[in-house]
Amino acid sequence: MSQVLTFCVQPQVQLRFLCPDDIEQVKKLCTEWFPIDYPDAWYQEITSNSKFYSLAATYHSRIIGFIVSEIKLISNMNKEDCDILASFYPDTAQAAYILSLGVVEDYRKHGIGILRKYADLS
Ligand SMILES: CC(C)(COP(=O)(O)OP(=O)(O)OC[C@H]1O[C@@H](n2cnc3c(N)ncnc32)[C@H](O)[C@@H]1OP(=O)(O)O)[C@@H](O)C(=O)NCCC(=O)NCCS
Repeated sequence: MSQVLTFCVQPQVQLRFLCPDDIEQVKKLCTEWFPIDYPDAWYQEITSNSKFYSLAATYHSRIIGFIVSEIKLISNMNKEDCDILASFYPDTAQAAYILSLGVVEDYRKHGIGILRKYADLS
């Protein structure tokens, strides 16, 4: 998974998958953004287990934001999570369950959180 994508409007901001080499940067950012002390095993998992869809936004190679999500079958999700989805989705559909999302403070409000105008990842 070595794809790197470039934002159409911000060519220096790129998207790539997280990898184990990112753990220290990701830990530091999580500590800044979230009041949760994730165990080391979690960082290992989100950067190496393909069940997670973990993307970093980078600017001149520095991580300035990331999203960690898990692709789940709707039939395997908790009822309270299913309840916020539109009812027309079949149980066989998949949903991205977002575990973490953050953007470095100085780079917020530039469309990075919503991946505004980004290229398709397929
Ligand atoms: C939430 C966050 C990721 C947004 O990143 P960003 O790059 O500034 O977002 P964007 O510039 O792409 O803005 C996207 C939209 O999200 C909205 N938004 C920002 N923070 C929000 C929040 N806490 N709740 C709801 N909407 C929010 C913005 O108003 C904007 O909407 P608009 O385009 O209609 O004006 C960023 O503020 C952040 O890292 N916050 C700290 C960590 C956090 O709270 N993460 C979310 C919980 S896991």
